[in-house]
Amino acid sequence: MRLKFRPVFLAVLSLVAVLATPSEGANILGLFSSHSQSHLIIHMSVAKALAKAGHNVTVVSMLEPKVKSKDIHVIVIPVTDEQEAILEDQMKEMASQKNTVFATMNRLLSGMTVMIESQYELLSHPKFQQIYDTKFDLMIMGWFINDFQLGVAAKLKVPVIVDWMNAPMAIIDGYVANPSELSYVPSMFTGVPKGEVMGFRHRLQNYVTDWILTYLFHVFDLRLTGYYNEQFGKETNFPTLAELRRNVSLVFVNCHLISEGPIRPLVPATIQIGGIQIKDTPDPLPKDIEEFLSKSEHGAILLSMGSNIKSSAVKPELNKNMFNVLSKLKQNVIWKWENLDDLPGKSANIFYTKWLPQDDILAHPKTKLFITHAGKGGITEAQYHGVPMVALPIFGDQPGNAEKMQNSGYGLSLDLLTLTEENFGAALREVLENGKYAQEIGQFSVLYRDRPLTARQEVVYWAEYILRHKGAPHLQSPRVHMSTIAAYNLDVYALLITVLIISLLLTTLAFKFVLRKVFGKGSLHESKD
Ligand SMILES: *[C@@H]1O[C@H](CO)[C@@H](O)[C@H](O)[C@H]1NC(C)=O
Ligand SMILES: *[C@@H]1O[C@H](CO)[C@@H](O)[C@H](O)[C@H]1NC(C)=O
Repeated sequence: MRLKFRPVFLAVLSLVAVLATPSEGANILGLFSSHSQSHLIIHMSVAKALAKAGHNVTVVSMLEPKVKSKDIHVIVIPVTDEQEAILEDQMKEMASQKNTVFATMNRLLSGMTVMIESQYELLSHPKFQQIYDTKFDLMIMGWFINDFQLGVAAKLKVPVIVDWMNAPMAIIDGYVANPSELSYVPSMFTGVPKGEVMGFRHRLQNYVTDWILTYLFHVFDLRLTGYYNEQFGKETNFPTLAELRRNVSLVFVNCHLISEGPIRPLVPATIQIGGIQIKDTPDPLPKDIEEFLSKSEHGAILLSMGSNIKSSAVKPELNKNMFNVLSKLKQNVIWKWENLDDLPGKSANIFYTKWLPQDDILAHPKTKLFITHAGKGGITEAQYHGVPMVALPIFGDQPGNAEKMQNSGYGLSLDLLTLTEENFGAALREVLENGKYAQEIGQFSVLYRDRPLTARQEVVYWAEYILRHKGAPHLQSPRVHMSTIAAYNLDVYALLITVLIISLLLTTLAFKFVLRKVFGKGSLHESKD
């Protein structure tokens, strides 16, 4: 009897040990140094879900977070005033000119050094250094061209989850080795209408885009590795940055590809948490906004150009054009506007406010249209609540988001810099009056919510999974540790082709030899006759 019971008993014991260890109150570090409020909202929502599940979450950021929780210890280490001024100037510059993907990348490479540099300087800040006094169990790194920060996790000897605020792209895929499948998975810069298979032109475009992006990231890479070596080079027995990139446990990506597309293969270490920032039930609105919305007989419109671009960075004549159209509508308008002393104009149907609970307003039944700069966060919220959009994208991923939104039939996209009263007015009328946009996005909203676990449950389950299984190395795809040559079997093809060529040559030679033997000295031609 004893012999029979013991293994069962041991198994139960070890199961209990495995399940019980870190799930109750792990110490989790969130390193969220992207200088963008929209990124921070996503990362803080991840932190909040974990704090709510009973973990002791500490966040280091460079901006004061808008999403907060009393249970999260937030350490804010702001950029210097000088850096702040440079960043603001750059945003202004981008809002005033046309931004292709490559112009943006180019600016990131040269002008936008501050964004990357400040994330590096952060690591030596005395307030940051104090985090090494705490014994952490897990680090979550908000990704924004900052993976030299993986060294922090190595120093703390903890597993890492990378959190990215959009759908997976090449560099994020790289951490866990998602296959790239360029022939049918369009990048965020290749607009392919929903449900359409990529033709030759799109495939070529997709391939070339990928190629250029890969090159640009190689250039970034030199800089990132330089920062890493400067910060951690003096540590003894320390891994290289390349080694740490192959030691990422999971990536959280902010998408839900089953409903959003594209359908593509993802390895199990890719966890989709699209909509993490959206509350299950909206919070009550501030009193003034609630009153304004409730009395909107003909419905309401929300206009927000996001958190990075101050509305004053948009050219005054463009704001004036927007005002002239909006003030003549029968709908009420809530307009996010920072400087209340300098308004584009006053009108009874327009309510200006500096900061607004965007998600809660979009959840309000009176909200009929969202005018947006097409940041991923806002688009996601509008899609969740089924509110059609008119997009005015500016830079970065926004033009791609806007194109995808328009291609999906959820609204229209306009070029901000060539916005006129006529084309803006026409776009608003079309989306407000033609029911097909609201219907299309309403259908999407149903698909988007149909999941086995909510985004918050995914975050908690998988973070605890990583904690329980000490980084879960078993989850890792072997591809992470392979070179490109091995991963695509190029060496195998090379060998097989060589063997094939050699055997063809040998066969030909042997054939010729036999012919010569049989037909004597004469050539083939003669022997035919
Ligand atoms: C929670 O984290 C803080 C660091 O932010 C640390 O000082 C504290 O000791 C942690 N609490 C527990 C119970 O581990
Ligand atoms: C690699 O990841 C594991 C968890 O999977 C972690 O425990 C370990 O410290 C990491 N190694 C380095 C060198 O950071």
